[in-house]
Amino acid sequence: MVDKKIALITGVTGQDGSYLSEFLLEKGYEVHGTIRRSSVDYRERIAHLEGTPNFHLHYADMGDSMSLVKLVGKVQPTEIYNLAAQSHVQVSFDAPEFTADVDAVGVLRVLEAVRTNHLEKTCKIYQASTSELYGKVEEVPQNENTPFHPYSPYAIAKLYGYWMIKEYREAYGMFCCSGILFNHESERRGETFVTRKITLAAARIAQGKQDCLYLGNLDSLRDWGYAKDYVECMWLILQYDRPEDFVIATGVQHTVREFATLAFQYAGIELKWEGEGVDERGINVANGKVVVAVSEDFYRPTDVVNLWGDPSKAKRELGWNPQKTTFEELVKIMVASDMQKVAADHVAGVMRTNLAEYLEKGVVK
Ligand code: NAP
Ligand code: GDD
Repeated sequence: MVDKKIALITGVTGQDGSYLSEFLLEKGYEVHGTIRRSSVDYRERIAHLEGTPNFHLHYADMGDSMSLVKLVGKVQPTEIYNLAAQSHVQVSFDAPEFTADVDAVGVLRVLEAVRTNHLEKTCKIYQASTSELYGKVEEVPQNENTPFHPYSPYAIAKLYGYWMIKEYREAYGMFCCSGILFNHESERRGETFVTRKITLAAARIAQGKQDCLYLGNLDSLRDWGYAKDYVECMWLILQYDRPEDFVIATGVQHTVREFATLAFQYAGIELKWEGEGVDERGINVANGKVVVAVSEDFYRPTDVVNLWGDPSKAKRELGWNPQKTTFEELVKIMVASDMQKVAADHVAGVMRTNLAEYLEKGVVK
């Protein structure tokens, strides 16, 4: 008899949770995901999966041990993917205590929920660790042996989670691992992360629905991959013959400015850059209008500026291809999707307009 594969995904409504659900359902898993009560019942990323026979949703919160203990007991998962987090670095400066509770102690709650239900020998755990752990980087590129130097409340919370996973692996022999994932984006990316903020604004500006995009540090370097490719790695890490941590990245880095230049180009706007620092401007070559400007509102108290991952171990041990979707393809996918959304979105457009205005004015970071 083939053992039944049962996955529990915390943070199933997020970018990665939605792609991972699709991936695991295709592999024949029974997939369970956690959702939170919200005043607006809007689960855009997983709406298409609701009603699928092997897909189940449950209320639970990373801040509520009891909800996690009961859920793990009820579902009896063979694999847990702990993706739930307050995942916005800049927001973590505004809500550091909440971020610590969810992103740090939340990991401990999941580990203890597994132990409380005596599943430590049968349930594998994937922890969504992050390249933010390298923070104020001590070497480039970064690999599994690069020292950590977390540089935000978010990263410090995630560091606690990383060490707890390692501790429970060594103390209790549990199969729990961290994927140290570098930035991964998609057409489902939250609208306040820099890539999506740019592709959405490029589409809106190209269609005459926004005048200018305000950004923070244009020199920041990131190793950006495609989220759809990265969820495969989460699964591969748990299928590996021993519990180990892996860096997942493309091995290529670009600045925020380069991302913006390419995104606007795909939206039909050629940009030229003038000025420096807070006075830098992106100008539409065709009509001389300023379409990108810098606002200090988007500067962070401490910013991570040089992330560049070395995915050699994942390539070698997991057989994963870090260049499946190139940077250029990623930007093209995101812009094409936002061009369509902006053109089609008449009803939701009202909400979107408000958000875009807030983003433009720097009210929402
Ligand atoms: P995301 O889109 O922001 O999704 C976060 C998920 O966590 C959402 O489903 C959210 O639920 C849920 N969540 C937040 N607080 C919660 C709480 N208190 N209890 C239960 N659920 C809660 O993030 P993502 O980009 O998919 O990232 C997934 C994970 O990978 C996160 O842990 C993130 O920190 C980590 N990570 C991401 C990247 C990246 O580049 N995307 C890189 C490295 C690591 P709601 O929908 O209800 O808000
Ligand atoms: N969000 C945002 N908004 N970032 C901006 C802006 C802006 O207007 N302008 C410049 N940036 C810079 C930030 O200062 C940062 O250096 C870089 O763009 C990327 O910012 P984000 O897209 O917000 O992502 P992040 O790198 O801080 O965090 C994401 O990746 C981490 C992995 O490295 C999140 O997904 C984290 O959850 C994840 O752990």
